[in-house]
Amino acid sequence: MKLWGGRFAKNTDKSVDDFNSSIRFDSRMYKQDILGSIAHAKMLGECSIISKDESLLIQKTLKEILADIENGLIEFEVDAEDIHMNIEKVLIERIGDTGKKLHTGRSRNDQVALDIRMYLKDEVLEIQSMLVSLQNTLLDIAEKNLDTILPGYTHLQRAQPITFAHHMMAYFQMIRRDIERLCDCYKRINVMPLGSGALAGTTYPLNRELVANELGFQAITENSLDGVSDRDFVVELASGLSILMMHLSRFSEEIILWSSHEFYFIELDDAYSTGSSIMPQKKNPDIAELVRGKSGRVYGSLMTLLTVMKSLPLAYNKDMQEDKEAIFDAVDTVKMCLPVFTQMLGTMKVRKENMYKAAQGGFTNATDIADYLVKKGVPFRSSHEIIGKMVLYCIQNNKAIDELSMDEFKGFSSLIEEDVYCEISLEKCVSGRNIPGGPAKESVVNAIENGKKFIQSLK
Ligand code: ARG
Repeated sequence: MKLWGGRFAKNTDKSVDDFNSSIRFDSRMYKQDILGSIAHAKMLGECSIISKDESLLIQKTLKEILADIENGLIEFEVDAEDIHMNIEKVLIERIGDTGKKLHTGRSRNDQVALDIRMYLKDEVLEIQSMLVSLQNTLLDIAEKNLDTILPGYTHLQRAQPITFAHHMMAYFQMIRRDIERLCDCYKRINVMPLGSGALAGTTYPLNRELVANELGFQAITENSLDGVSDRDFVVELASGLSILMMHLSRFSEEIILWSSHEFYFIELDDAYSTGSSIMPQKKNPDIAELVRGKSGRVYGSLMTLLTVMKSLPLAYNKDMQEDKEAIFDAVDTVKMCLPVFTQMLGTMKVRKENMYKAAQGGFTNATDIADYLVKKGVPFRSSHEIIGKMVLYCIQNNKAIDELSMDEFKGFSSLIEEDVYCEISLEKCVSGRNIPGGPAKESVVNAIENGKKFIQSLK
């Protein structure tokens, strides 16, 4: 018979059991469910809602059940619907009536809310530490490439020279925001819902603070209806993970472009790339492509969650059982992507010469020669026009700006002098941009220092 079978004259149809059951995906929360139940049982004993002995027996048996699950000795049943009732059922099989007292003052509605929160707290911490590893790898690459000049792009057209260190540190900032978003979301996950009951709390004098302390929660939920209805934290997490995947997809896209022969700025390690079954010459950036593709799954989970929760009346509705597969898939996907992505970056070769060569073409120093004239008193717009003509001349004569002779320069402006060659060198274009946040070595060294401080601050 079902744990709730009392008011039913018939068993549920087999198809309903299969349809209704969530055990195939919520069994992964067995540990959280048991730890939550142990804390609940302990509190019931301390508040004399059940006897001390009963409380101890329940706690001890739950610990045994936990060990048995971990040793593969317990098989969950679809009939028992979900992880909560599967575990309660085993408990009752083992200790009879005492086991039946565990659910005093509790509902599966607050129980499932507790379990998901506990589960996601652990996952968020794990993802954050993966993000820190990624950041450490970025810092490492940045430190080795403070002088590696490459073109920065806008519209994917060569724009102005920057350094590879600066480019890596841009991703560092994006990942930093991802970590901060997760920290913020963690605060709202870290609230303990037990005591909300089915929706209206309970008449038993539960000590909710005690359970919260026992389980390491920062606070308790403040409204019983909200306590069982709220899945904002799940949506928030999916949203934070979607933004993170959006960042990884942009990074992946650059890795894919950079490893093409057209760019050839980087070469992925053989261990982190793949071949073609037909074209012997191919070395493909599959990891980056898969990460880019998997961003779609995570966005999909976010859409699922928003849509499941849309218009749901308070409090619990069975629709909410659909939250788990979506958030689990999002979390699993991110955890699958991050380590391999980080290793791929850490092992790639940076083709500094090719980056430099690319920065020499495409007139990436055009802004700097325009600024050169401005410093000699020409208004910026006029200077822009003069240099535009100079670029056109260079294109027609197949030259870079710094390949023009002094006579050619003078043809555009008499203000241009010998020092121009030094002033518009790629090195100078970069080193001159030493404002905070800029690509000059000193600015990037500063950014790296701040980045290290950020990582320290998380400990
Ligand atoms: N398996 C359910 C879920 O995941 C647990 C809560 C069920 N509560 C209920 N009243 N049916 O949402």
